[in-house]
Amino acid sequence: MIPPRVSPRDQERPFRSDELFFSTTDRKGVILNGNDVFVRVSGHTLENLVGQPHNIIRHPDMPRAVFGLLWDYLERDAPFAGYVKNMAADGCYYWVMALVVPVREGFLSVRFKPASPFFDVVRKLYPQLLATEHAAGQGNWRRGMQDATAQLVSALHGLGFKSYDHFMQAALAAELAARKTEVPSLTLDVLQGGDTTAATLDALSHSAHVIDGHLNTLFASVDDFLSVIKTLDEKASFLLGLSANVHLVSLNALISSCRLERGGEGLAVVSQNLATQSHDSMATIDQMTRQLLALTSALRDTAFSLSAAKLEVEMTSFFLHELRALVAADATDACDAQGRIATLAESISRSTARLAEALPRAQGALPALLRLQQELASDLRRLSCVHVLGKIHAAGIDDGGVFIELLERIFTQLSTASEELQELLVGVARIKDRLPRFATAARVAQPPIDRFCSLAATA
Ligand SMILES: Cc1cc2nc3c(=O)[nH]c(=O)nc-3n(C[C@H](O)[C@H](O)[C@H](O)COP(=O)(O)O)c2cc1C
Repeated sequence: MIPPRVSPRDQERPFRSDELFFSTTDRKGVILNGNDVFVRVSGHTLENLVGQPHNIIRHPDMPRAVFGLLWDYLERDAPFAGYVKNMAADGCYYWVMALVVPVREGFLSVRFKPASPFFDVVRKLYPQLLATEHAAGQGNWRRGMQDATAQLVSALHGLGFKSYDHFMQAALAAELAARKTEVPSLTLDVLQGGDTTAATLDALSHSAHVIDGHLNTLFASVDDFLSVIKTLDEKASFLLGLSANVHLVSLNALISSCRLERGGEGLAVVSQNLATQSHDSMATIDQMTRQLLALTSALRDTAFSLSAAKLEVEMTSFFLHELRALVAADATDACDAQGRIATLAESISRSTARLAEALPRAQGALPALLRLQQELASDLRRLSCVHVLGKIHAAGIDDGGVFIELLERIFTQLSTASEELQELLVGVARIKDRLPRFATAARVAQPPIDRFCSLAATA
């Protein structure tokens, strides 16, 4: 039965920070299943939820643009994370951080209470996006959605994120970290005795607990990765701007030297040299920024898939606890519990597979990056030598100080470039130092994850 639509009420539907909930849908977003917390918080019955499109809990305050992004990701078979304001059956609202991932039967969405500083930003931003969509009018909803998406991306730019992708990666990690400070880990309260269902649930809980420990160790590096990524992004942008600048100034120097009547030949040679050297540096910088992008993108994927896996493991543990309590109270019909556990396990397995794929990419980008850094350092040294030579030549020429000024501009840029390169080197060295230990820890975590997944598949 389709529940009647209610009007939104400005009242929050409560749930605890330690509570986690999930729903599964088919490829079209029709709800297939969920857990008890989802049912309770939504205020619907499970029977009413199953078979309904997920917009059954849509809140009118939510901008369409966010769901547009969600479906864009899912259609690309990519995971999505985002803040969603939902509406319960009684019209009350509740905010969640949602991680939505593709699974075999369709999609899985894991949700929890947001608490990081990003949440405050989003709470202020969404009404602006909604206003943009309303301003376009119902008849023009598609344009309104495009405008609101552009507005969202531009607001995220203002916060230092190049794309929604970068934002959601940082936001999910921040929310998990905030959750960690608020919610202590679930204690493993294996109840001895009981029937085979209870014993299976206990075995799964124990296995999930072991994985949780491994993933927590790995997750401790995520903050560090994200801060290094930020530094590397900044340095890459700086170097790109610099290479274009130095080349432009050296071309100006070449033109100025050609205009000189007396003594111009020596400066022309120097300028030609400057132009050639700066052209070479541009090529090195170009290659370097490409390698930096490969490294940061692989590190981002590493951090995001790890965050996803961690949340999925926590969700699984939570669900197992829910089931265990029902079994202990003799109150469960364990309705498709096995199917739901298997779907959760599948999501963990997919996230750790993405992690296993991203890590070698990050490691693979390092050697080339280190070589290019050395190349760029010697490019910069060569440019400095040409700069000194230019100053000697320019000293004997009366051009009103034009050439000296151009050389000074190049010199200032080169000095800054050397400093920036130094900082870049520190960032890359930090990653080079941590990545092998991280990779080892990830390898150690894999067998327990595999064991859990096969246990879940046969539970
Ligand atoms: C796995 C999954 C979970 C979803 N969770 C929610 C949700 O919690 N709230 C929501 O409003 N939409 C959710 N959606 C998106 C809805 O399917 C839908 O796109 C959205 O509510 C917008 O509905 P509308 O197109 O009718 O405006 C989810 C979709 C999927 C695939």
